[in-house]
Amino acid sequence: MKISLTGIKPTGNIHIGNYFGAIKPALALTEKFFGVYFVADLHALNSNPTPKELQQLIYAVAATWIAFGLDTEKAIFFRQSDIHEIPELTSILSAVTPKGLMNRAHAYKAVLDKNAESGRDPDDGVNMGLYTYPILMAADILLYNSDVVPVGMDQRQHVEIARDIAENLNRIYGKTLKLPEGLIAEDVQSIPGIDGRKMSKSYNNTLPVFVPEKELRKQVMRIVTDSTPPEEPKNPETCNLFQIYKFFGTAERVEEVRQLYLNGGLAYGALKQELFENMLKAFQPARERFNYLMENKSEIDQILTQGAEKARELGRPVLARVRKAVGIDK
Ligand code: ADP
Ligand code: TRP
Repeated sequence: MKISLTGIKPTGNIHIGNYFGAIKPALALTEKFFGVYFVADLHALNSNPTPKELQQLIYAVAATWIAFGLDTEKAIFFRQSDIHEIPELTSILSAVTPKGLMNRAHAYKAVLDKNAESGRDPDDGVNMGLYTYPILMAADILLYNSDVVPVGMDQRQHVEIARDIAENLNRIYGKTLKLPEGLIAEDVQSIPGIDGRKMSKSYNNTLPVFVPEKELRKQVMRIVTDSTPPEEPKNPETCNLFQIYKFFGTAERVEEVRQLYLNGGLAYGALKQELFENMLKAFQPARERFNYLMENKSEIDQILTQGAEKARELGRPVLARVRKAVGIDK
């Protein structure tokens, strides 16, 4: 079975955009691939979070994936920093990575551009973790002989860089590493936020999945709508409440609501309440499981530890092959 690998950075509160855009499609892949999933905590270090913050986020992101049904028996799920082979491979890969390749990486370039705009030193605020981010990511991908890497558009370049690095090593030392393919889900829709822009934690416009009911309801009620009165016809396609509702209503009910928009008779407040109830219902099992895990973090630790053992087993022969190829085996 081919290996699909994806890393998840421990960032903020998971929202429905993350769920429909990333988590759900990634979990569906376990039907066709052997799934390898991990919490990319070493990558998160580049932004220097406080240790407490990072700890909490690592648990939250791990609990999220388990709560949404990642089968930790069938797939491998672990924490990146538990795999000591990763820094070792990163170090070897650095020796076959041209500096120019890093100069072209878009996360680094974005910082350069911003600095240029504001007249600061080009490398202001750039640490080496950010600069060499793609090498660490290449190690993640190449260590387990991954075949495909499901990522969003923003990570496509990083997968191509991983491929370039593998090609370099193979060219210099003979065929050693498998070349990975990016699996870019072009059809994944962008979920609008409560203000109509793309839902994103950077815009503070999200509907988070795992917050207390009261907080979730408050957020749903804050979804921005226009001031058309209930009896007047409205356009469902330009209404972000409807665009969000579509993900939570049955096909039949969504059609009914669409007709209410078109013909008049739809009250935004009532639809928001219905959306809130549907969201709670849809996420109830995941929310319960998430809360349970966050109260029982030792269970998360246990799952991640077992996962790390399996991941290291998968990665060890690949690293041994690389060490041999470059001449540092014993
Ligand atoms: P955010 O934009 O909230 O910071 P991230 O950049 O951490 O989210 O994204 C994590 C994953 O969730 C990525 O794969 C991304 O493509 C997906 N994602 C984030 N926001 C949305 C959205 N509004 N619609 C669809 N997918 C999304
Ligand atoms: N860089 C990815 C992100 O920011 C996370 C990541 C780290 C990753 N290592 C990976 C994704 C390996 C896919 C494969 O989202």
